[in-house]
Amino acid sequence: MNTAFEARLTADLDALRAAGTYKSLRHITGPMAPEVHMEEAGDVIVLSSNNYLGLADHPDVVEAGIEGLRKYGAGTASVRFICGTFDIHRELEEKIASVFGFDASLSYVSCWTANEGVIPTIATAGNTIISDELNHASIIDGCRLAAAKRARYKHGDMSDLEAKLREAEGTPFVITDGVFSMEGSLAKLPQIVELAERYNAVTIVDDSHGTGVMGKTGRGTIEHFGLEGKIDILTGTLGKALGGAAGGFVAGSRALVDTLVQRSRTQLFSNALPATVAASALKAIELLETQPQLVEKQRDNTRYFRERLTGLGFAPLDGPSAIVPIIVGDTAFAIAMSNRLLQEGVFVTGFGFPVVPEGTARIRVQISSALTREELDRALAAFEKVGRELGLIGEAAHA
Ligand SMILES: Cc1ncc(COP(=O)(O)O)c(C=O)c1O
Repeated sequence: MNTAFEARLTADLDALRAAGTYKSLRHITGPMAPEVHMEEAGDVIVLSSNNYLGLADHPDVVEAGIEGLRKYGAGTASVRFICGTFDIHRELEEKIASVFGFDASLSYVSCWTANEGVIPTIATAGNTIISDELNHASIIDGCRLAAAKRARYKHGDMSDLEAKLREAEGTPFVITDGVFSMEGSLAKLPQIVELAERYNAVTIVDDSHGTGVMGKTGRGTIEHFGLEGKIDILTGTLGKALGGAAGGFVAGSRALVDTLVQRSRTQLFSNALPATVAASALKAIELLETQPQLVEKQRDNTRYFRERLTGLGFAPLDGPSAIVPIIVGDTAFAIAMSNRLLQEGVFVTGFGFPVVPEGTARIRVQISSALTREELDRALAAFEKVGRELGLIGEAAHA
């Protein structure tokens, strides 16, 4: 063992503990659901999962996964182009393309690897990739891997985006989250599309938090803005609303998907999405198609929670998505607050620097359609108690 290296790691971890920013893993003993049993905290209401449509433990989704395992076993034990690919992958990819309105799609083991797969493959030398500064880490890392010139525009700032487009080399690519995961706000897609048309740019939207949530039928942020057919490339995850296990995808033209099959490194050098997950995600997408009430219920629940939370004196960031962030400022405070809420039976995570900018630490609530009113009310009571105790609401907040 290299003792100097071990000592460095230990000192770094001790510093995190001293700063109150150390993260602990919590262990859940059953499926993800509105209420779970946690080894460290007992029975808790979950307000921190991306299980937006409550499909992670849906009997049909579970059964489809079991069937997938029976039919296909664990996997092909190799990458797709070497060892063949299962027909369930093709079925899933055709379904994703048709449901989200694209010609073709390609699945990956995660949206992280989808983003890292597509961005460097298309944003090649001589071109420019322009990214919103608050884009997800997987987009940032994907851009870092690209040989294209890189530019960042200020979050949601369309004049800054236009300035970057004016300076772009070759084909410009504009990439943005659909729903910003820490803010709950939406990308200004109508303006982005307009600018992209003016500057002949290719648009890429990662709608991981919008899929299953935004738009009348849960098709996502593109549907929300009525921009079907106007975005060139969509990336998304199967690890949130669409079953919650893992998996991601890129959707676009046939030529794009064929190019990814030929060149995308996270496709060429890594195994496929497990067939079990392909089967359960496919079922989750079918449920999205056939049960629009899930999307409606999620929206009702979010509206209810936001209204009541605001009524208690909290000031969550505004936004139309299922993400309700409450800014508390200091990272250690956010973590302490989430720990107190956990003691009160509510599992909700505090996020601080470097995940969000310094001084804007927050408690991020995420609302699922599976939560009942009674569970929401119990969670709100815990927020009220802890909020008063910590001086976020009530007399102390105005002192
Ligand atoms: C916008 C965005 N993109 C990508 C990802 C990564 O998704 P996955 O878990 O499928 O890798 C996330 C997950 O946090 C996300 O929020």
